[in-house]
Amino acid sequence: MAKKLFIKTYGCQMNVYDSERMAEAMAPEGYTLTDRAEDADMVLLNTCHIREKAGEKLYSDLGRLRPLKNAKPDMKIGVAGCVAQAEGDEIIRRMPMVDLVVGSQAYHRLPELVRGPRHAVDTDFPVEDKFDLLPKRTGKRGPAAFLTVQEGCDKFCAFCVVPYTRGAEVSRPVDRVLAEARDLVDKGVRELSLLGQNVNAYHGQLEGRDIGLGALIEALAQIDGLSRIRYMTSHPNDMTDDLIAAHRDQPKLMPYLHLPVQAGSDRILKAMNRKHTADDYLRLIDRIRQARPDILLTSDFIVGFPGETDADFRATLDLVEKVGFGMAYSFKYSARPGTPAAEKETLPDAVTDARLSELQALITRQQRAAQDAMVGRETTVLYEKAGRLPGQMVGKSEHLMAVHVTDPKGQVGDLVRVRVTAASTNSLAAEPVA
Ligand code: 5AD
Ligand code: SF4
Repeated sequence: MAKKLFIKTYGCQMNVYDSERMAEAMAPEGYTLTDRAEDADMVLLNTCHIREKAGEKLYSDLGRLRPLKNAKPDMKIGVAGCVAQAEGDEIIRRMPMVDLVVGSQAYHRLPELVRGPRHAVDTDFPVEDKFDLLPKRTGKRGPAAFLTVQEGCDKFCAFCVVPYTRGAEVSRPVDRVLAEARDLVDKGVRELSLLGQNVNAYHGQLEGRDIGLGALIEALAQIDGLSRIRYMTSHPNDMTDDLIAAHRDQPKLMPYLHLPVQAGSDRILKAMNRKHTADDYLRLIDRIRQARPDILLTSDFIVGFPGETDADFRATLDLVEKVGFGMAYSFKYSARPGTPAAEKETLPDAVTDARLSELQALITRQQRAAQDAMVGRETTVLYEKAGRLPGQMVGKSEHLMAVHVTDPKGQVGDLVRVRVTAASTNSLAAEPVA
């Protein structure tokens, strides 16, 4: 009998991609996806460990699943992702209702674990590429897809667990990436977002040459039927000349860049082990804007890093003022066990909370200004789904803004030139250009 799999994905887009691949790995075992945990024969929680709240969500969700597991003892519960990687069998010790734990590098072994004894834990970092061992991409999919090209991180920012949970930087071979991309395009994909914790550190070999992300993007751009390419997330120190040139030369590369800076104070950047100054970042932004003047920049910020003074925080606001972001995420610092910064004394919550609101207000103003600036302008939208109103299509602009287009003839997958008629902080309204 067909079995049902419910997957809950926490955290980043790389987890979204991993969840898709895990669903595909479970398909040969007879599992099809359901979006209701109540109907599931197996519940898989694909976790994120990057910030405190992300990790705690796992335990509160497990608590909520307990009555269901009591009522259906045969239902399997699996924990995957970065919390699984970081905590391993500790999860089962704390929550014996969990049947299996699979770390972020062992997904190809998921079917085996499900068939095997209860309370199996696999958090190895195997040498083989898990993506090669997972089944080929299956199923019908939307016109925009993710493709993980790189995993792990060697940067060791003082606050971050990624180098520990996802391990060292590894790039997937160019031919595998190209093959998966062609396969996705054959299945109707028109936009690819290349993913990696440090995606612009990508390196591979093409026709006997060492190449980076810029050349990989150029190679992908040769695929007929692929219209748009994006990538995330990047480190400022890996923005090579090649990659900046691709923003100038490659029309399929969208004018959008997520480039976390984390803070604007050199003292804090140093304590964070970021290995760049605020000025390095600003000069880099200048070069990127020279290459692609209409590029929309987004970033990540951490507020309340240990030792952050009011003057340090003002330097962050100052950097934000100077750059002008289209959008940015800002997070309250949370100590992650095992990271160097976790040893340091944290700031009072009230101080961090007040700074976070001030930064978020500034970022929201900038986001609103970037959205408003689109009104009256033309852009191209890739339709991803029908809108809530009749005759309306929803998709993303070149700058990754959500756009609602009045277009009764529109179909999912259409790439349509539109004129923006109205803006709010989070979306645009538009009409096709006649
Ligand atoms: N506390 C708060 N934010 C963090 N991030 C990573 N680690 C932490 C932490 N310990 C944020 C960074 C990173 C984003 C994905 O999450 O801003 O860029
Ligand atoms: Fe974490 Fe990103 Fe720093 Fe790597 S570059 S340690 S993933 S914040």
